[in-house]
Amino acid sequence: MDHQQEEVRLRVFRFIFTHAILLCFMGSHLSSANSNLGNHSDFLALLAFKDGITEDPLHIMKSWNHTLHFCKWTGVTCKPSNQRVTLLNLDSQRLVGSLSPSIGNLTFLSAINLQNNSFHGEIPQEIGRLTRLQDISMAFKFIGGNIPSNLSHCMNLRTLNLSHNNISGYIPDQLSSLSKIHSFGLAINSLTGSIPPWIGNFSSLFTFSLLRNSFQGTIPDELGRLCCLGKFQVSGNELSGEIPSSLYNISSIYFFSVSENRLQGSFPIDVGLNLPNLQIFYVDLNNFTGSIPMSLSNATELEEIDFGGNGMTGLVPVNLGSLKRLTKLSFQNNSLGSGQSSDLDFLIFLNNCTNLQVLSLAINLLGGELRDSIGNLSSLLTELILGSNLIHGSIPAGIGNLASLTVLGMEENLFSGSIPATLGKLKKLQKFALGYNRLSGLIPSSLGNLTQLSNLYMMENNLEGNIPASLGNCQNLLELDFSSNKLNGTIPKEVIGIPSLSISFIVGRNSLTGSLPLEGGNLKNLGALVIAENNFSGEIPNTLGSCVSLERLYMAGNSFQGSLPLSFENLRALQEVDLSRNKLSGVIPEYLVNFSSLERLNLSFNDFEGEVPKQGIFANASAISVIGNKGLCGGIPELQLPRGFKEAIHKGGKASVTSIKTIIFVVILTIVVVISCSVGIFFWMRRPRKRDSVESSHNDWQLRLSYLELFSSTNGFSVDNLVGIGSFGSVYKAVLRESEEVVAVKVFNLQQRGASKSFAAECETLKNIRHRNLV
Ligand SMILES: *[C@@H]1O[C@H](CO)[C@@H](O)[C@H](O)[C@H]1NC(C)=O
Ligand SMILES: *[C@@H]1O[C@H](CO)[C@@H](O)[C@H](O)[C@H]1NC(C)=O
Ligand SMILES: *[C@@H]1O[C@H](CO)[C@@H](O)[C@H](O)[C@H]1NC(C)=O
Ligand SMILES: *[C@@H]1O[C@H](CO)[C@@H](O)[C@H](O)[C@H]1NC(C)=O
Ligand SMILES: *[C@@H]1O[C@H](CO)[C@@H](O)[C@H](O)[C@H]1NC(C)=O
Ligand SMILES: *[C@@H]1O[C@H](CO)[C@@H](O)[C@H](O)[C@H]1NC(C)=O
Ligand SMILES: *[C@@H]1O[C@H](CO)[C@@H](O)[C@H](O)[C@H]1NC(C)=O
Ligand SMILES: *[C@@H]1O[C@H](CO)[C@@H](O)[C@H](O)[C@H]1NC(C)=O
Ligand SMILES: *[C@@H]1O[C@H](CO)[C@@H](O)[C@H](O)[C@H]1NC(C)=O
Ligand SMILES: *[C@@H]1O[C@H](CO)[C@@H](O)[C@H](O)[C@H]1NC(C)=O
Ligand SMILES: *[C@@H]1O[C@H](CO)[C@@H](O)[C@H](O)[C@H]1NC(C)=O
Ligand SMILES: *[C@@H]1O[C@H](CO)[C@@H](O)[C@H](O)[C@H]1NC(C)=O
Repeated sequence: MDHQQEEVRLRVFRFIFTHAILLCFMGSHLSSANSNLGNHSDFLALLAFKDGITEDPLHIMKSWNHTLHFCKWTGVTCKPSNQRVTLLNLDSQRLVGSLSPSIGNLTFLSAINLQNNSFHGEIPQEIGRLTRLQDISMAFKFIGGNIPSNLSHCMNLRTLNLSHNNISGYIPDQLSSLSKIHSFGLAINSLTGSIPPWIGNFSSLFTFSLLRNSFQGTIPDELGRLCCLGKFQVSGNELSGEIPSSLYNISSIYFFSVSENRLQGSFPIDVGLNLPNLQIFYVDLNNFTGSIPMSLSNATELEEIDFGGNGMTGLVPVNLGSLKRLTKLSFQNNSLGSGQSSDLDFLIFLNNCTNLQVLSLAINLLGGELRDSIGNLSSLLTELILGSNLIHGSIPAGIGNLASLTVLGMEENLFSGSIPATLGKLKKLQKFALGYNRLSGLIPSSLGNLTQLSNLYMMENNLEGNIPASLGNCQNLLELDFSSNKLNGTIPKEVIGIPSLSISFIVGRNSLTGSLPLEGGNLKNLGALVIAENNFSGEIPNTLGSCVSLERLYMAGNSFQGSLPLSFENLRALQEVDLSRNKLSGVIPEYLVNFSSLERLNLSFNDFEGEVPKQGIFANASAISVIGNKGLCGGIPELQLPRGFKEAIHKGGKASVTSIKTIIFVVILTIVVVISCSVGIFFWMRRPRKRDSVESSHNDWQLRLSYLELFSSTNGFSVDNLVGIGSFGSVYKAVLRESEEVVAVKVFNLQQRGASKSFAAECETLKNIRHRNLV
């Protein structure tokens, strides 16, 4: 990012007056006939350039008209003596179009600046006719094609800036003729091939940037001949091999960046002595090995050091404290340290780096304890990143002095003891990670003072007590994770009501109790709610239906009861839902069938009842789990649930409008036989049976009736056959055609809340009754 920023800083357009004046004197000797011809061809060339412009929202081209001399046109500068165009500067004029080849006729041009417009197409080869050209700035946006090889004729070129375009292909070898080049900028394009060794012949080269292209191969040894190089920037390519040692001989280098390549090898121990002007040293994201050279401390101009993402070993040198200008120091993601107590000894020396803003040591093997003196690090420190090391002991209270901190990462270490309340002084903190340690004690309520906090991670510790209600002041929280601790008490409504929570609210695996506060409905943008494996109870609040962005909902392993709230139907974004191991009851709502994003649904081990739907997610047996619910029936055959009655309805085909939404089952009039309540069909037996074991009679009453049969045997559920109407449904008399048995058919209205419960209750009652007419 820093690299990019660095590139994005636009060069100030410079025009070398001395040369122009020199040419001026030489030109005065040319014949006036020639110059007349010249200024007319410039006029035509500019008109042709104007023709190439297709959009001009700032109306720059309006002044390019016949009444105004072209030397007065916006962006055009001429040499007064012969009225030839020497400078074309249309920087950031929001022009859109293509570059006319006529530009090659402006043969007196010494500088051309078209950067930050939207020219597409290629840079025309005709540009090679501009032998006086010293300065080309065509950075930013959309120029495509290749680098024109005819640029090689522009032998006076000092600055070539084509960065941030869409240029592809190789660097043409012809460009080796540009021996006066001072700044060579091709950053952020799609160039390929290798870095040409002849660049080493550019004895005036000061700035060299190939940042973010696709260059491959090694860095040529010849570059070590660049006597005056200041900025060496080849990050973000596919370069391999070792950095040639000759490069470390260019003492003028102040900016050295080879990040994000496939480079390897180790650094010479005297690198800091040989590059005394170094300000930036970026070697991150490569395969470098060996130790951090001690001599870096001799490059006293150093401001930023990044070794991140390599295989560096050994200890962090203790003498870096002499780098007074240091603002960034990153050693993250290496193998530094030995897990020993001396590993962090270097820290105290950094107290002298009073400009330090970023210190990242994460993902190493650093052992030892943090001392309270860490609070004496630079007052400008914004990022302190220590995660994934072997640091033990307690968190020193002194950290609370680092008042500028915005990021504090201490996760995945061996920190123990309690969290010091002084951390509440870090008013600017935004990201705070303490997860995966051995911290115990209470979460200090002073953390509620961290009103800028956006991400708070404390999972996998031994924290106890309550979640402090003061955290409700952290109104910028996006994500909170307290999972796998020993927290108890209820979730404070202030905390679960923080409306900014949009990523996740995770408090799973604790000992939290009480009901889920209604304020959970404030979380309209929340993506994940994880409260599984606690002791929550009560009903799921209806307000949860306001959390319309929820994608993951984990409530397993609690004691939630009651049915799913009606508002649940709004949670259409849900992808994964785990409600298992609770005491939830009622039917599985049909609307879940329409949750098209749903990928996993676990309802197992609850008290759900009624029929399992078959469409939507329910068509995929591996995506759902409903086991351990005694009252469920139906569903797809893979679930191996008792057959549901709706099946019968559907087989019957001609289902009436009301019957589609009802489940019909048979209650035998004189003898009611109860199957397990999921079977849903009863039939009547005229003879009293001798056997009264439910099991033994099982086979006899496994009578299956189609909807059609029921329909005809009740005369189409006619009013004549209506025996009675109850609160949950109606009972009809039916005469079965085959056996001429008289049965009662009860039609439940499932839209009536509690209907299925009533069915279950009826089953339960009948099951326990012993009567000679009941089997
Ligand atoms: C070319 O320059 C001459 C003077 O050097 C001037 O009289 C003439 O108008 C110019 N022509 C154009 C097209 O600008
Ligand atoms: C550029 O100059 C060449 C010859 O000098 C001429 O043929 C051509 O028409 C000119 N193009 C423009 C656009 O002026
Ligand atoms: C030519 O441009 C000048 C400067 O923008 C303007 O004042 C003038 O009106 C323009 N003339 C015509 C004919 O458009
Ligand atoms: C590019 O031009 C636009 C408008 O002309 C301007 O707002 C923006 O700052 C420019 N960007 C750069 C990097 O110069
Ligand atoms: C490119 O340069 C070659 C000479 O190297 C020349 O013959 C050719 O005309 C140039 N092309 C253009 C389009 O100017
Ligand atoms: C960049 O160039 C490639 C072809 O080289 C083209 O497909 C792509 O559309 C270009 N992108 C832009 C933004 O012009
Ligand atoms: C550098 O220049 C010398 C002579 O000036 C030449 O012999 C050599 O081939 C050039 N090197 C490269 C890599 O082009
Ligand atoms: C670096 O420079 C020294 C002295 O100027 C020289 O002896 C040495 O060979 C050079 N090293 C490389 C690798 O060019
Ligand atoms: C390099 O720095 C170390 C201390 O970090 C110092 O002892 C040594 O003298 C320095 N070397 C030179 C050549 O300045
Ligand atoms: C810090 O700087 C002071 C004075 O600038 C110096 O006396 C002290 O030795 C330095 N400490 C370290 C650890 O470099
Ligand atoms: C921080 O929070 C604590 C407890 O919540 C409070 O007593 C204290 O006044 C707060 N401190 C500051 C500086 O706001
Ligand atoms: C909650 O945990 C704290 C600390 O372990 C304990 O003192 C307190 O009794 C617990 N409260 C309940 C209700 O269990």
